[in-house]
Formats: sequence, structure tokens, C-alpha cells
Amino acid sequence: MAVSIIILAAGQGTRMNSERPKVLHALGGAPLLAHAMRTAELEALERLVVVVGHGGAEVGAAARDLNPDVAVVEQSEQLGTAHAVLQAAPALKGVKGDAIVLYADTPFISSDTIAAMRRARDRHAVVVLGFQAADPARYGRLVTDGETLERIVEFKDATEEERAITLCNSGVVCADAALLMDLVGSVGNDNAAGEYYLTDIVSLARARGLSAGVVLCDEAETLGINTRAELAAAEAGFQARARAEALENGVTLIAPETIFFAYDTVVGRDAIVGPNVVFGPGVTVESGAEIRAFCHLEGCHVSQGAMVGPFARLRPGAELAEGARVGNFVEIKDALVDAGAKVNHLSYVGNAHVGERANVGAGTVTVNYDGVNKHRTEIGAGAFVGSGTMLVAPLRVGAGAMTASGSVITSDVPADALAVGRARQVVKEGFARRFFEKLRAARRDKEV
Ligand code: UD1
Ligand code: CA
Repeated sequence: MAVSIIILAAGQGTRMNSERPKVLHALGGAPLLAHAMRTAELEALERLVVVVGHGGAEVGAAARDLNPDVAVVEQSEQLGTAHAVLQAAPALKGVKGDAIVLYADTPFISSDTIAAMRRARDRHAVVVLGFQAADPARYGRLVTDGETLERIVEFKDATEEERAITLCNSGVVCADAALLMDLVGSVGNDNAAGEYYLTDIVSLARARGLSAGVVLCDEAETLGINTRAELAAAEAGFQARARAEALENGVTLIAPETIFFAYDTVVGRDAIVGPNVVFGPGVTVESGAEIRAFCHLEGCHVSQGAMVGPFARLRPGAELAEGARVGNFVEIKDALVDAGAKVNHLSYVGNAHVGERANVGAGTVTVNYDGVNKHRTEIGAGAFVGSGTMLVAPLRVGAGAMTASGSVITSDVPADALAVGRARQVVKEGFARRFFEKLRAARRDKEV
């Protein structure tokens, strides 16, 4: 059955103490909003609505970047969670099937949990995601009677007896879209906060003789982020799970606690990752590749049998083909290092193609930027680029060609040729000795 998702992202996030909207702070290399949007990536997704408020333009733009099909609606005044959901009504007009409400600051809700909630809709008109809280603190409490959820009471409005309940509200709800809009439209704001509470839809549904129920999840899954400390704790939790998952998937992590993954990192079975490696967004490492210690990878692909590092940086667009090697203090950006090619020491290769089995000597630089535009360097298969070559792009070095070390190469090199682009060496016999004798004599004269 079709399902729509409403993500509430209008909150001010004052406790982050930041100019940036809370939901754009990063977790695992992606904004919090991206995690909620990922939870919303369901097969039968009918419509995705993001409700924005504070920093709305910025949050809306980020949402559209992540998914161009998203409907962004504005809640200009934050009058409460029910009021926020109501803003999605025009965007969901005429939509069939269920709607699920997610919070953009609650990044860990799993697709399994969403599936369980959708299944529970067979039994209940309104399904709420709840959890047993170790410390229920200020969460809304779920008041149940057997299998039935009777109402949700906010901490501020709860009696002592209700505050003793440890079954808490995560905020995630699922109901038929039209019914949900009908219910949130009927919610009033006669409560301790003077807000329109989404949680009130439960008692409203019950009063209409509809059934409501709870699906349980782990407390860690409902973790919400309100402060930088909570964001840091969430990051630690995210990393712990990502490391465990990688190990489970057959990846060797030599020192798991020193490796940092992004939300979308893919590492294949039998890949080896050394200590202190950081994965930014958009990285795939194939089976059997090796990433040695102290590497930083982002937006790149490492093929089977390739070897990276130690101390290498792969930037967006770096593509390492099978068996390629990128060694210490090498930076690769927007470049294909083809099968069996080697860039082993102290080099920068950007906007380039290093052909199969080519060897790029130590200290080589593709001089790709003229201060305004970027230019490409094409290095042919089996070429041998001498150490310390400056390859001034746009440039082609033909297959099997060679450059003399220390050359500044400014024009194309034909296949199989040698290009020398440096001054010829001059040797002056005895010059050094005479030179230093002169300097020392001058100093002695001064001291006297
Ligand atoms: C809410 C629930 C509470 C639950 C808790 C779980 C209500 C009334 N209470 O409380 O039962 O235990 O979440 O974390 O729903 N938002 C808007 N517009 C608004 C108000 C809020 O978009 O006008 C968004 C916020 O950005 C946030 C989410 O809704 O993402 C929750 O709002 P928040 O004010 O944090 O609710 P809580 O008081 O934590
Ligand atoms: Ca909250």
C-alpha cells in the first residue's frame, strides 16, 4: 500500500547554540535531515513532505538537494507538532494510503521499525512508536489499557502517577493520511504549553471509537538531538554501529575504534582497513582492497585489489581501478587511476586519467588550475612520468612515453617519446671550494 512521509524540521534548535539550522548539523557526514529522509526511502513512497520553519530556505534547499521530488512546506510560526503536521495537508490532498510523521532531529529510526508500524495498521487506526525509557525525563507518556493506547500525556501536563509511566512517546506516528489530517485539524491548544500537540490525536481517535496501538522500538533508535553534546553522543553511537556492521560484513578493521564511517560508506568483504582511516560521504571500497593507516577518503571508488596509503587522500571523483596503487602523501581528485597504475609517493593528481600500468614518479604534480579554469591531464597506458615532473594541463602524455625527472612539461608528448623540460646541467670544476674559501676569508677580515 502507498505511504507518504511527513518530516517535521521546523524547530528552532536554540539549544545547539548555532547559526545553522539544527537539522543541517552533520551526523556520519550527512545532515540530520538526510538521515530522516533516508528512513523515508520506502518502496511504496507516494509523497514526501518536509515541514520547514527556522532557516526554512536553507533547510528547504537541502531537502530538495537530497530528493528533488520532495514537497517543502512552511510552518511560519511554531505552534506545536500538530500544527506542523497540518501544514502538510495541502501537499497531501487527495493522497491515498497512510502517512507517517518523522522528526528531522531523530535520525536513527530504522526501516524495519517503519515496516512494523505499517503492519500494525491492520489492527489499529493510529499507530504510535513507543519505547521503554531508562530515564523517561520529559518525554510524553503512553497511557495504555491492555493492547489499546488510550492517550498520550505530555510531561508538562502529566500527574505524578502518569509521570511514573516509563513507556514513552518517540513522536513517530502512522495513520491513514486523510484521517491524520482530519485529526490534527481538530487538535486544540488548551494545555500547559499552549501548543497544538500531535500527541492529542490519540485521545481524539479513541473518542471517535477508533483504535490506537503502540509499536515498540529500542530507545537508541528514538534518540533525538537537541544539543551539541547529544549530537556528539549520537555520532559515537552511529560510529559504533557502523564499525560493528563492517566487521559483521567481513571487513578487517585493524583498530575499529579509530575508523570513522559516513552514513553511506560501502566496504566490501575481505577489504582491509588500517588504523585511523576517515571515510567521508560517497565512498565505495570493493572486496579485497586495502586502505592503509591514516587515509582520508571522500566521494571515491576503490576497486578490487587496489591499495591506498598510508597517509593518502582520495577526494571526490577519485576512481581507482583494479590493482591500482596510491601511496603515501598522495592526493587524488577527479581522476581515474587505471588498472595496475601506480602513484606511490608525494604527488597530486587532479582532473586526470592515469592509464593502465603507468607509473607516476615521486613528487609529480598535475598543474590543473590556471587560477580560473581547471584543465585535464591524460597519461597514456604504460607511460613513465619521471620524479618531480610538473604536468601543466591541458596535456597529453602518450602511451609508453617518458618524462625526464624534474621536467616542466607544457606541451603534449607523443607515444613512446621522451620529453625533457629542464635546463641542461652545467659542471664548474672546483667552483664550490673557491666560493666558500672566498666567503670565509671575507668573514675573517671583518673579525680582525
Ligand atoms: C515531542 C512529543 C513527545 C515525545 C517527544 C519525543 C508532542 C506534543 N510531544 O515532544 O510526546 O516524547 O517529542 O522526542 O508532539 N516541530 C515543528 N513545529 C512545531 C513544533 C515542533 O516542526 O511547531 C518539530 C521539531 O522541530 C522537532 C519535533 O517537531 O523535530 C518535535 O518537537 P519538540 O518541540 O522537540 O517536541 P518535544 O517537546 O520534544
Ligand atoms: Ca524534542
